[in-house]
Amino acid sequence: MINVIGLGYIGLPTALMMAAHGVDVIGTDYNKELVATLNAGKTTFKEDGLDELFAEAVQKGIQFTTEYQVTDTYIVSVPTPYDKFTKKVDACYVVSAVKSVMAICPKGATVVIESTVSPGTIDKYVRPAIEENGFVIGEDIHLVHAPERIIPGNMVYELYHNNRTIGAYDPVIADRRRSYVFYRA
Ligand SMILES: NC(=O)c1ccc[n+]([C@@H]2O[C@H](COP(=O)([O-])OP(=O)(O)OC[C@H]3O[C@@H](n4cnc5c(N)ncnc54)[C@H](O)[C@@H]3O)[C@@H](O)[C@H]2O)c1
Repeated sequence: MINVIGLGYIGLPTALMMAAHGVDVIGTDYNKELVATLNAGKTTFKEDGLDELFAEAVQKGIQFTTEYQVTDTYIVSVPTPYDKFTKKVDACYVVSAVKSVMAICPKGATVVIESTVSPGTIDKYVRPAIEENGFVIGEDIHLVHAPERIIPGNMVYELYHNNRTIGAYDPVIADRRRSYVFYRA
């Protein structure tokens, strides 16, 4: 089962696409109103094909909650605001989400960072957030860096067709993320 953390412009279509293609998905967002809207059967923004994808995912059993799930795979798609003064991306949402995942995930879990961060940010902020819990990356936790590239306007089409960059210390682990995009032609 995959727990998608953050159900905004990126996380929601990602979760829906996987669920619509038969992956067991639970989407988590700490915004209660957003989760209530999704659970009421409504999407939270407009995109060509999104409502149809939503209906298919719901029919396949996707769930939406404010709670983090105990599972073997997490996809983190939370915001990474750009600070115009420092000219740097603020990784605090990603770090906070990763820490929340670390608080409940079992050993052996895979954590995929789909938020837009650089490899340097992974090393500087995400790795320490994992390791401070005593987890050894590559042994206790598998870390994958796969920033999403879709942009609003044609998201559902782009989810199918855009190429992706997937970074991991081990090709076998990277392949696990790749296996969730099997819906592509
Ligand atoms: N929107 C785009 O066009 C776009 C395109 C490509 C990449 N990205 C990247 O994707 C990432 C996500 O962006 P977005 O546009 O989907 O953001 P968004 O603001 O639309 O959605 C993020 C969601 O994450 C939730 N959230 C934040 N912290 C959380 C936490 N700790 N636990 C649970 N939920 C949490 C928020 O409530 C929100 O619903 C960013 O890194 C962004 O740069 C965005």
